[in-house]
Amino acid sequence: MPAGAPRAGGHRRFGGRGDIFLAVTHLPASASGAHDSAWHAPVLVGAVCDALAACPRILDGTLGGGGHSEALLQRGHQVTGIDRDDAALGEARNRLAAFEATGQFEAVAGNHDAIDTIAALTGRTWDGILLDLGVSSRQLDDDARGFSFREGVVLDMRMDPRQAMTAADWLNESEEAVLAATFKEAGDEPKARRLAREIVHRRERKPFAVSDDLVGAIRAVLGSRSGPGEFARLFQAVRIAVNDELGGLSRGLVALRERLAPGGLLAVIAYHSGEDRVVKHLFREWSTACTCPPRHPICTCGGVALGTSVTRKPVLAGAEEIAMNPRARSAHLRIWRRAAAEG
Ligand SMILES: C[S@@+](CC[C@H](N)C(=O)[O-])C[C@H]1O[C@@H](n2cnc3c(N)ncnc32)[C@H](O)[C@@H]1O
Repeated sequence: MPAGAPRAGGHRRFGGRGDIFLAVTHLPASASGAHDSAWHAPVLVGAVCDALAACPRILDGTLGGGGHSEALLQRGHQVTGIDRDDAALGEARNRLAAFEATGQFEAVAGNHDAIDTIAALTGRTWDGILLDLGVSSRQLDDDARGFSFREGVVLDMRMDPRQAMTAADWLNESEEAVLAATFKEAGDEPKARRLAREIVHRRERKPFAVSDDLVGAIRAVLGSRSGPGEFARLFQAVRIAVNDELGGLSRGLVALRERLAPGGLLAVIAYHSGEDRVVKHLFREWSTACTCPPRHPICTCGGVALGTSVTRKPVLAGAEEIAMNPRARSAHLRIWRRAAAEG
């Protein structure tokens, strides 16, 4: 296999022999857990740092516990971090206080999907933007946040506690078709329609309130052999819906693309096939010049590509990182470069 060629299955594992980044890098930092904290263990740190190495000013749109930001700051980048969860923001600010004191780091509360509404960032552009999607380990572990399928956990799942709709509200109020579409698209669930019907039957007798209510419905449809893997996948689907993560991602990527300086890089780590599909399709669309119908003999649209995909296939974590951090198993990193000059 030539160096840099994708592996069978079309994926490239970071730290693998054929890795595109191997020529310019050292071992991925996260393989040593150098940027892990009690809040979160970031994934693909080495791949992200290598990809964004030439970007002086970076926006970390998913600051979380600040692991990726810390690695980037230590390499001399200027970093602006955004998180919509005040608890995460506080944690990262504590951790990165020394960088904040020198002006190399700033933290801003807000939703990166709606960056144009964040007054403090009006008109700002960056050479590199990172999104490490989903939630951090601490958010998942904290039963009070209601993400977990552990017994008796209140169905909440809001990343931003100021948001009105909780997971219980979503399960109790969504139409059956919406429930089914979510379990299919965000949960890859073959029995999505049956699960949606089961939830509607059950909530007529007793509204959903705690994790056990959803676990009971899943068990009833998937059988008693359904276990933590199924619960995690389907609870995640509910979380994605409650926080409008797929819709937000589509809108957010377009807005963030406009905040890239010419030649700037957008790096996105997705953990779920639904998220990764959104990223893949948008990067492909933005990299396509001609939008004429496929059978058109010649191009008449005169379209110009907005940029190019840097990663034809996603970069995945290597076995060593996965052994240390099982969350890395599902991480898919894709990178897109904005054209140096448009038009
Ligand atoms: C996987 S964690 C990021 C971990 C981080 N890279 C680190 O090294 O610790 C995702 C974080 O992004 C935040 N988040 C998710 N969606 C967001 C959005 N649309 N806008 C702002 N923050 C978001 C979550 O609250 C969470 O803290």
